[in-house]
Amino acid sequence: MAAQDEVGIVDFVLLDEITLDKFMDNLRKRFKGGKIYTYIGEVCVSVNPYRTMNIYGPEHVSQYKGRELFENPPHIFAIADAAHKEMKQQGRDTCIVISGESGSGKTEASKIIMKYIAAVTNVGGRQEVERVKNVLLQSNAILEAFGNAKTNRNDNSSRFGKYMDINFDFKGDPIGGHINNYLLEKSRVILQQIGERNFHSFYQLLRGLTESELKAYQLSRDPDAYFYTQQGKSSKVNTINDGSDYKATNSAFKTLGFSSSEISTVWNTVAAILHLGNVTFKSQEESTKPADINVVNKAATMFSVTSGELSKALSERVIAARGEVMKKMHTLHEAEYGRDALAKAVYDRLFTWIVGKINAALNVQGELGKKSYMGTVIGVLDIYGFEIFDANSFEQFCINYCNEKLQQLFIELVLKQEQEEYRREGIEWKNVDFFNNQIICDLVEQPHKGVLAILDEACLNVGKVTDEMLLEAMDKKLAGHKHYTSRQLSPMDKELKHKEEFRIRHYAGDVVYNIDGFLDKNKDTLFQDFKRLLHNSSNKIISDMWPEGAMDITKTTKRPLTAGTLFRSSMINLVKTLTSKEPFYVRCIKPNEVKSPSLFDEERVKHQVCYLGLVENVRVRRAGFAYRQRYDKFLKRYKMISQFTWPNFRAGSDKDGTRVLIEEREFAHDVKYGNTKIFIRSPATLFALETARSELIPGIVILLQKLWRGTLCRIQYKKMKAALYIMNYYRHAKIRKYLEQLHYAFRDVKKMHDYGKSVTWPAPPLSVRPVVGTLRAVHARWRAWMILRAVPRAEWPQLRLKMCAASALKGKRGAWGQNRKWEGNYLALPHYNHNSEAFIASINNLCNADKFQMVLFSSYIQKTNRFNKCADRALLITDSNIYKLETKKFKAMRKGSPIQEVTGLSLSPGRDQLLVIHSNKGNDLVVALNTEPSHEDRVGELVGILCNRYQQLRNMELKVTVGSQFQCMLGNKSRPLHVEVSPAAQVANFRPGNGTTIVYAVPTSYALGGTGDQNGQQYNHKIGWKA
Ligand SMILES: Nc1ncnc2c1ncn2[C@@H]1O[C@H](COP(=O)(O)OP(=O)(O)O)[C@@H](O)[C@H]1O
Ligand SMILES: [Mg+2]
Repeated sequence: MAAQDEVGIVDFVLLDEITLDKFMDNLRKRFKGGKIYTYIGEVCVSVNPYRTMNIYGPEHVSQYKGRELFENPPHIFAIADAAHKEMKQQGRDTCIVISGESGSGKTEASKIIMKYIAAVTNVGGRQEVERVKNVLLQSNAILEAFGNAKTNRNDNSSRFGKYMDINFDFKGDPIGGHINNYLLEKSRVILQQIGERNFHSFYQLLRGLTESELKAYQLSRDPDAYFYTQQGKSSKVNTINDGSDYKATNSAFKTLGFSSSEISTVWNTVAAILHLGNVTFKSQEESTKPADINVVNKAATMFSVTSGELSKALSERVIAARGEVMKKMHTLHEAEYGRDALAKAVYDRLFTWIVGKINAALNVQGELGKKSYMGTVIGVLDIYGFEIFDANSFEQFCINYCNEKLQQLFIELVLKQEQEEYRREGIEWKNVDFFNNQIICDLVEQPHKGVLAILDEACLNVGKVTDEMLLEAMDKKLAGHKHYTSRQLSPMDKELKHKEEFRIRHYAGDVVYNIDGFLDKNKDTLFQDFKRLLHNSSNKIISDMWPEGAMDITKTTKRPLTAGTLFRSSMINLVKTLTSKEPFYVRCIKPNEVKSPSLFDEERVKHQVCYLGLVENVRVRRAGFAYRQRYDKFLKRYKMISQFTWPNFRAGSDKDGTRVLIEEREFAHDVKYGNTKIFIRSPATLFALETARSELIPGIVILLQKLWRGTLCRIQYKKMKAALYIMNYYRHAKIRKYLEQLHYAFRDVKKMHDYGKSVTWPAPPLSVRPVVGTLRAVHARWRAWMILRAVPRAEWPQLRLKMCAASALKGKRGAWGQNRKWEGNYLALPHYNHNSEAFIASINNLCNADKFQMVLFSSYIQKTNRFNKCADRALLITDSNIYKLETKKFKAMRKGSPIQEVTGLSLSPGRDQLLVIHSNKGNDLVVALNTEPSHEDRVGELVGILCNRYQQLRNMELKVTVGSQFQCMLGNKSRPLHVEVSPAAQVANFRPGNGTTIVYAVPTSYALGGTGDQNGQQYNHKIGWKA
């Protein structure tokens, strides 16, 4: 809320009593206390401080940025922010209408607003937006140089009307703009009252040029040397530095992208006008000629035309009558009129051309233009204020008419419509009276009857019509109008000059206009000769400014619309534009006539407060509501803050929904329900609604994002799935084709001897490669099945053992008992072991103790130890352990050693029954199987059993070494073991050899010859292995 150091009351609505006096008291108090802004609700009343205020810095910008009007002391920033916010949040075009009389601070206000908007936008720092902002700000310097002048009311008075649209994108950043200019007061180019100046541009040029540049323009420094800049006798203004302004203007030109030839054309034109003003004429015989051709020369050079052509255009004119072209010499008066008309027209064209260039630079373009799907605008209207001079002419008439239109708009929107709306909506309401200036607008613009219509009629008249006759016609038609009078109509009124003046009672005061020049200014004629002259300029830019100069002389042209009519329609359009937008108002007040920062001229201010209708504004406002909105829109905006209305209200109309929401949030005391709209009295309520809403928005945004991301992912997922589907199909097709190939290649395998083992597989395509392994396995299994099916199921376990043995021994050892049935547990079989019962009994005990599942193998053995001592034992292999048993009661000699711990097997290639079971315990088991009485070969069986079991337990192959010499560990010592054929041996047995060698001597019958090994012993494979 407003700080304690506020002076008076920040919002006139809060006055205890609404009277003009109280209003004035508060305004004065605040002005004296240095507070220039005060609200009437959302209207900002601004009093020109006439001094630099320290309230526009960055800290103030951030104080107002994004805040509500009532949160901070009154400030024009708050209005700008409100307009921006409204535009951003509601997506509505808004406009800021700045009104007030000349010198009240409108132009300053519009610049402050633009600077504020520039300061709070483009947080993203986009380059194009920065450019646009820069152009927006810099365009002011140019427009003011060429469109502003010192008047007796304001040193920097805008002599044209300006309405600027700023385009925003959906983020609320400015992306372009457009300036509409209204009626430049071009008569100033040729005529200034005492104390006034021509447009700034002339003085900027003269004071800003260097000496050498001056020479190039053939100018002299002193404005008093030129007729067009010396009439006001006040070329020097304290508050203006023309020299440095010249630099600023030029730098703005550059910023806006004017080329150097364009800039020089602009200044050439200004110089040309200065020279032109000094052309005087002399009469010679029937004709009129420039008195000093040198001056004409200078102007011609600046226009890039020949001096002869210019001189001719100034002295005569060509007229076409009935197809014939004739020359007509000017009278002295016509020549002077022509010269001045040329100067005015050239300057006016130049100004319009400059505005056009600025607009081109501001045009919403490129990427930004495309992206701005929600293009909204803020319009800023800064138009010439109501003015009364000692002599008021056509221009003042137009300017004041313009102000009447704006006042009418204000009345329409703020006073009239508001009250009408309350009535329409059925809200209880006590009417507030106000003066409606519609009647004055009608006086000026009404068709057939209005001043402008009478003026046009007079201009249309073929005969010679004078200004005096015009006044007579007006007197006749407007007699009896409450707001119009003249000496003719009120002869007693000594203030009015007979046949020269008329008075209009404007809403802002009485203005006496001098009729002199009205007709000419309204007709605004420029001889065709000048248009042709300039169109033929060798300066392309000047030539392009005068396209109509290309027209054939003999061609009859349509009479151009008069200045008054053009102005009227531009005003009507302006009002239309403004009405289509949500308006915000800044009402400027001029505290005194002498530009004093301390003087509060009671009468002057009171007068303005009255005609601006500010007190009525307060009354309407006070009785009124800060905010109103259609129920549907209101609900749409705030439905998320009530559980009953989110996401949709279904229990009745929008009005019911609104009511439910308001009641849930406990704002019922502050609102009224109209027929179609809700009315909220205080801004604080609205603020609370907004806050509640913005707290919920992030959640909703996340929800939307979530849904959208989900959608995106689903789309993506579907695409991926489709791709997979296609890929799968393709792969299947490939596989199918490959299978067909396979099918063909393997068509006869069933009949083949090797069931297709030798068939070469066709090369698989890439996509099939991963499955080839499976296919091969399928084939292998099938082959296995084909082979195995010949063998009874019951024999398969044995077959498996034999295959284990085969893979360990094949090609290495001849005989390994593969053709024999493998019994395994030999000691349990009575015909092998007469003591089998004792064995079985012992094994059962052992089984109880060691919990093994089954016996895989048992046999009598002969073993040797580290002391070369041989002994008879029994060997027992269960599914987990290897045991040595004594041969009487078959008791285990020691704990069984786990099969997993076996590190390898060694055996000889011969028919002996030697087997070494290696372990890493330091004592290998060195045994010879005792296969009495059959003498069959059981080593192969034992190898098969151990390899198979080892494979099952450890999932890896057991290493099997076949040789007649190998190392074994006994008593932690590595000892060589040689299998040697000994003719002396009757039976195979162990004996010590040389050194640490253990010899396993086998009888000659065991020796079978064959491939040689390290000992040179021969084994006969063919015989031995097939045994
Ligand atoms: N907010 C302000 N701060 C300081 N000086 C101001 C302010 N508003 C107006 N002025 C002074 O008043 C002069 C006239 O203001 P201007 O905006 O040109 O009036 P208008 O456009 O209404 O004719 C400015 O040149 C400036 O000196
Ligand atoms: Mg201005």
